[in-house]
Amino acid sequence: DDGTGYHAVASANANIALIKYWGKADEALIIPRMSSLSLTLADLETTTSVSFDRSGRRTGHDRLYIDDSEREGKALQRVSALLDVVRDMAGMDADAVVSSHNTMPYEAGLASSSSAFAALAAAASHAAGLQLDERELSRLARRGSGSACRSVYGGMALWHAGHDDASSYAEHIDCPLDLAIVVILVSGEQKKIPSREAMRRSVQTSALYDAWVRSGADDLEQALEAVKLGDVARLGAIVQSNSLGMHATMMTARPPVMYWLPGSVAALQAVDEVRQGGLNAWATMDAGPNVKVLTTQREAARVEHDLRAALPGFEVHSHVAGPGVRLRTTQGH
Ligand code: PMV
Repeated sequence: DDGTGYHAVASANANIALIKYWGKADEALIIPRMSSLSLTLADLETTTSVSFDRSGRRTGHDRLYIDDSEREGKALQRVSALLDVVRDMAGMDADAVVSSHNTMPYEAGLASSSSAFAALAAAASHAAGLQLDERELSRLARRGSGSACRSVYGGMALWHAGHDDASSYAEHIDCPLDLAIVVILVSGEQKKIPSREAMRRSVQTSALYDAWVRSGADDLEQALEAVKLGDVARLGAIVQSNSLGMHATMMTARPPVMYWLPGSVAALQAVDEVRQGGLNAWATMDAGPNVKVLTTQREAARVEHDLRAALPGFEVHSHVAGPGVRLRTTQGH
């Protein structure tokens, strides 16, 4: 540190929604149409450093490096938009250099925006000298990517939809179950339709959308009840149904959004077979073709083994629950 820079480094892990967020009530503030429930995962981690340059004049141009390659365009715009919120809150006006590393144990092909924006929110707010509590940090991360507000917490998190910036945040939920997620990698390719656009299509054009929102409220209530009771089979059945309902709103959008590949269908069938073989295994999918399987820590190795056997050529990896956002270093304050 040269004494003029305001610098912080933070890490956060990706989370997978068990009860999904799909659709915004407020696009600018990212207020969702429904509350959601997630599990933060071990190993899928983003570490981000933010340095505000307080020495020179503001040029209005931040710089962004992701895994050591400089990024411009949409990716930079999204990061700068979150930095603008932080600059506003801190009453500062300085360009920033952001450098982000994804430490994924394999080519994940998983939307990593949840870990990315949680780490960015933590690093940027600390670099700007703000001392946010967890709820404030969750609200800030939400402004970058909705799902990121849940990655502030380790283990299970509940994002309260709320109705404005102050009331829309996530909190930690105690879970007596030792859950695990087994990821079936169907494709590591980047998705062609961003989740933002796909959500908008579901909300605006799917006749099934309102019904899915209504059943989602019920799903969440029942999922929380199943968690409280430690009933993984009950939780899993709700999780699988909630995800299929979300995809139904995409398939019935006009024009339709179809993230599924033939391999996704093969994976869904393999999950059913593994479960019929007596193990807890329940599928969930997000805005992409990969299939994630909810199971218990105790059964994860067997689920992983059985899925590999049923799906030759697919990468299969299991993840236990992971930690919440954490600060690595701060300088300049
Ligand atoms: O936060 P976004 O824009 O990446 O949207 C996430 C949407 C889903 O992953 C499909 C569901 C969820 O709740 O994470």
